[in-house]
Amino acid sequence: MTELPDLSGQVAIVTGGSRGLGRYCAEQLAGAGATVVIIGKDSQSVTKTAQELVAQDLDVVGFAADVSNYDQLSQVKSELGVLGNAQILICSAGVMADKFSKTLRASKAEWDRVLRTNLDGVFNSVSLFVPNMVDQGYGRVITISACLGRFTGPGLAGGLAPYRISKTAVTALTKNLAAELQFGAKNVLVDAACPGHIQTDMGGPQAPRTITEGADTVLWLATREQTNETGLLWEDRLRVDF
Ligand SMILES: NC(=O)c1ccc[n+]([C@@H]2O[C@H](COP(=O)([O-])OP(=O)(O)OC[C@H]3O[C@@H](n4cnc5c(N)ncnc54)[C@H](OP(=O)(O)O)[C@@H]3O)[C@@H](O)[C@H]2O)c1
Repeated sequence: MTELPDLSGQVAIVTGGSRGLGRYCAEQLAGAGATVVIIGKDSQSVTKTAQELVAQDLDVVGFAADVSNYDQLSQVKSELGVLGNAQILICSAGVMADKFSKTLRASKAEWDRVLRTNLDGVFNSVSLFVPNMVDQGYGRVITISACLGRFTGPGLAGGLAPYRISKTAVTALTKNLAAELQFGAKNVLVDAACPGHIQTDMGGPQAPRTITEGADTVLWLATREQTNETGLLWEDRLRVDF
């Protein structure tokens, strides 16, 4: 388990916070004292998760919204009021592509489904919640990328085209945004994390890594001191080439 500093007074927004990696991060951040807003697409699931976390005495609220739908996410921001002025944003919401979705086999509908959730969802989230971080001079933004989207190592080796390309683009969006924010000079750090293949609904029970292992880098990034070492892809707290 990752040792976290006292996060009392901080607000964290976690998309995909109803299940898997996002849920674990939400629980850990709330356990360290943060107020945590979890966002998921399925309203029953997000309500159930929020209730379970509140039952553990954690300060958590849940909202149902499809991250690919800018208007729905914008509505959540309005309903949040001051809680929309978050210090931490973790963009964990994501979907896997159909396993037969090689580029020339992927349907247009499958391409759109995955790109809209995995890429547009990150754009929508950062465009709504990061401007206030810039105004307040503090923010930690973590996007969840994947090794499959890298130009190096196991990435871009063919297959799962919508997923791989969505994650390549997420890493690119992350670096570009960090550059626009002058690589930490405004104390808003923007980084991508690759959790590795982890035991979640997406990763499956046979995945080699636990959620705790995959979340460690995400939580570390979410609570780092100011640095200019940002706009990068991280795995196990180490920079990886992309
Ligand atoms: N698992 C792995 O091995 C692995 C490896 C590398 C990267 N990743 C990345 O890590 C992130 C988390 O994955 P996970 O394994 O935790 O997946 P997961 O267990 O399937 O959970 C996915 C989460 O995303 C939410 N979500 C999906 N589509 C959404 C949408 N359109 N709007 C709002 N929320 C949505 C889900 O909520 P609903 O239930 O409401 O849909 C759920 O909370 C993803 O970005 C994934 O690509 C995972």
